[in-house]
Amino acid sequence: MAGRFITFEGGEGCGKTTQIKLLAEYLQKKNVDVVLTKEPGGTPIGQELRKMLCTGDKDKFDAVAEALLYYADRRVHMQQKVLPALNKGEWVISDRFADSTMAYQYYGYNKRLSKEMLNNLYEMTVGNFYPDLTIILDIDPKVGLQRSIARNNQTQANETRHESRETEFHENLRRGFLEIAKTADRYVVLNADVSIEDLHKQIVAVIEKRLF
Ligand SMILES: Nc1ncnc2c1ncn2[C@@H]1O[C@H](COP(=O)(O)OP(=O)(O)OP(=O)(O)O)[C@@H](O)[C@H]1O
Ligand SMILES: [Mg+2]
Repeated sequence: MAGRFITFEGGEGCGKTTQIKLLAEYLQKKNVDVVLTKEPGGTPIGQELRKMLCTGDKDKFDAVAEALLYYADRRVHMQQKVLPALNKGEWVISDRFADSTMAYQYYGYNKRLSKEMLNNLYEMTVGNFYPDLTIILDIDPKVGLQRSIARNNQTQANETRHESRETEFHENLRRGFLEIAKTADRYVVLNADVSIEDLHKQIVAVIEKRLF
């Protein structure tokens, strides 16, 4: 069977990482070869970029520099991991992809960058290639951030650069993802403020309907 590229998107703490793990287990039981990956940081070079992007002061570089660093990560990720896996017929599930860049850099920052600039970067970096399916987990940012903070306390991760932004940023982000979802058929928006098990069942139903 041909490879598939599935991306998960949504604000902080909406449950992407949790749901991706459950989906991978489900697919593996169906004998699908699954590759789990993430942006930023899906490759060794990406890990270096992730450190720059996810730790430290939220204003340590401007929105243009930030977008370029995300696209550098994406370029390496596509070349070194995503495309080779898809070419082997594997299913690649990515924890965030280009829609996050549009949501954070354009909507979150209240249009500090233009959509055109971000779309041009996409075209230059990824080309005329899109995920087969993008699942957007939608949640009130207050609920998501609470989950994220609780998780970071447990794991001692200091990836708090984005969490530290103000409420308005996260509300813009949520609206942004919902706007983006209207632009193509590959998007499915699910309410993430339900139990882990319920959400997993809904995701499985989407996958079965759309990709099998
Ligand atoms: N449906 C849910 N209900 C309650 N808690 C949840 C749910 N889904 C995930 N969680 C918990 O919330 C925290 C954040 O979940 P997770 O790490 O999966 O989110 P994420 O979208 O990957 O966040 P980030 O964007 O920060 O990486 C975890 O501690 C997880 O166990
Ligand atoms: Mg996560």
